[in-house]
Amino acid sequence: MKFHLVIASPSFDEGLAFFLDELGFTLERITPSENPSLAILTGFGISICLDKNAETGPVVLRISTADPDLHGLEKTGPNGTKIIYDLNPDEQTSPTSEEPSIAISEGSTAHWTDGRAGMKYRNLLPQGNWNYIASHIKVPGTGPVPDWVHYHDAQFQIICCYKGSAKLVYEDQGDPFIFNAGDCVLQPPYIRHQVLESYDGLEVIEIVTPANHSTFSDHTMTLPNDTHNPARYFEDQTFIWDKAANRQWHSLETANGSSHEIGKTGIEIASARNGDVQLLRPSRSGETLSDIIPSPQQGSSKFVLWFVLSGTAVCDRSSSGQQRIYENDAISALNTHEEGKDVVFRNPSSDFSLLEVRIPLNPPEN
Ligand SMILES: [Fe+2]
Repeated sequence: MKFHLVIASPSFDEGLAFFLDELGFTLERITPSENPSLAILTGFGISICLDKNAETGPVVLRISTADPDLHGLEKTGPNGTKIIYDLNPDEQTSPTSEEPSIAISEGSTAHWTDGRAGMKYRNLLPQGNWNYIASHIKVPGTGPVPDWVHYHDAQFQIICCYKGSAKLVYEDQGDPFIFNAGDCVLQPPYIRHQVLESYDGLEVIEIVTPANHSTFSDHTMTLPNDTHNPARYFEDQTFIWDKAANRQWHSLETANGSSHEIGKTGIEIASARNGDVQLLRPSRSGETLSDIIPSPQQGSSKFVLWFVLSGTAVCDRSSSGQQRIYENDAISALNTHEEGKDVVFRNPSSDFSLLEVRIPLNPPEN
């Protein structure tokens, strides 16, 4: 079976010349030979049936090109066919904001939008054209997720399970597994994966950069695949499923002598230092709970996102003032490396815990 896009061409020879000579299509077949009225043409990844007798309306063909001289050029062909030369979707870039910003996205007033397959999305970043995507995603209920085998060309992508659980499967990583609250995965570039099921109101936090990455379907691979190779490099990164159940907590002393607890994930190493994820909570000495002064110094990061997993504290944003924060709130520090604007979490409740995601100022060149 083969699909052809039918384009009506009452002035058949003129239409044929337009596609062959002006646009550069290739003639595959023409019939009948004595008085042609139908031609199959291929080019630019499509197949066209030019038909003298078809009664169809005009069509628009968008041709992706890397040639800057052609961008935006429009041509009109037979029967009003419009040809638009355009950039590849993944080459379409608009300048991303370099403005410094420290902002709080409050969970209580969050704006949710409907995504594919019944998913609900909340943007955790302030308004602006950032080169990062930070989302809080909900999949209500329990059941199969209508996902398919796909992959992304992002440089750094992590997903942390906040509530509920999901059954996930990844290329070369063996059987599907249950992704539980507190677990984090690093999705290296191009790794094929699929969400199979979600349970008990799944909620995840996802961070991706760059913002204009693409998602591709893989119609040839089924998961789980036969190869088991967890050490495989995808670009220079490896897959990692960091389990909350195995997490080791350490006390971390910061510059002013204060200390808090930190739960490391293996994401910094697995991502070849393209980013890092860790969990933070206050340390307790007697009745006193420590402030959380995130470290390393935020000056070494271009992007930091904190998501309040539980409890409450006061977020002290130096010049931008103090604000009480609660579970579901997200605090982002974007491009603040030159400003010296550090964020401190003061007077935490005993159940206060934060997810922290950092992207360094100078990620390694790929
Ligand atoms: Fe995905």
